Amino acid sequence: MSPFRLTRTLPEDATGAALRADVREGLSARPRTLPPKWFYDAHGSELFERITELPEYYPTRAEREILLTRSGEIAAASGARTLVELGSGSSEKTRHLLDALTGLRAYVPVDVSESALTRAGEALVAERPGLEVHALIADFTARLVLPETPGPRLVAFLGGTIGNLLPAERAGFLASVRALLAPGDALLLGTDLVKDEAALVRAYDDAAGVTAAFNKNVLTVIDRELGADFDPSAFDHVALWDAEHEWIEMRLRSREAQTVKIPALNLAVEFEAGEELRTEVSAKFRKEGVRAELSAAGLEMTRWWTDAEGRFALSLSVAR
Ligand code: AVJ
Repeated sequence: MSPFRLTRTLPEDATGAALRADVREGLSARPRTLPPKWFYDAHGSELFERITELPEYYPTRAEREILLTRSGEIAAASGARTLVELGSGSSEKTRHLLDALTGLRAYVPVDVSESALTRAGEALVAERPGLEVHALIADFTARLVLPETPGPRLVAFLGGTIGNLLPAERAGFLASVRALLAPGDALLLGTDLVKDEAALVRAYDDAAGVTAAFNKNVLTVIDRELGADFDPSAFDHVALWDAEHEWIEMRLRSREAQTVKIPALNLAVEFEAGEELRTEVSAKFRKEGVRAELSAAGLEMTRWWTDAEGRFALSLSVAR
């Protein structure tokens, strides 16, 4: 048996059907919205990689600092023999954790990108003989069926991506994660923290315009996949802090009145001059709020680590 296995839980055409449904629903509603997951085609993923290197975008560096300094503690506290990583991408930041988890037998990366899973998985099994890598092609918000691997399990959801979910979606997501765990299994969760508004807005509206290009890329995806005629230059990038909800919103603001045709949906969308389309919510958290959301899902927060500047947190919680 090869130590690298890949399981497809998404039908080949699931992505296209989901994109059509999301675009129809989001662009027919007022205010207009699009889910952030459609940013990440090959070009969007590349732009996101560039965002993580921007001076203004601190979350990736802050989380890496915590993983570098705390992997030993995380490993000791979890004692995991299986690591499941939701939204694993290139598995790059997980390496510290994989190194620290000395009793690890199996690694289960879960991602929608088959190419990223294959590249990362094959490199890992070559480097670590004895580690079983069982990759799952799946959307992290879907109901997952995990392969039978030895416990205890540690599920990691890093990067602050939980902030892309609205509060009710987060509750559903955490409950579905809890359902994957047996008592004593653990969740390692990355959350970006509430901080000074100017620093937050800068992180989502960088001087070099990379985040603006990333935001507009969703229009290019819809043009290519659904034959639409969005002109990305007819929209302005907007990043704002919603103090009531404590989240950053990214929007695209129509520079003029315009009608966009989406042939694959037989839809024409009219934008007024100045009308905004919400493309992302990125929620920021406080320790007690994270604790309460985890608790409501049957998870007890046992550890909380931040970077030295207190910008980002990793929490460890155990299934009750
Ligand atoms: C990948 C969801 C964590 O919300 O900070 C970066 C995506 N959006 N810049 C985030 C993102 C704009 C990012 N996450």
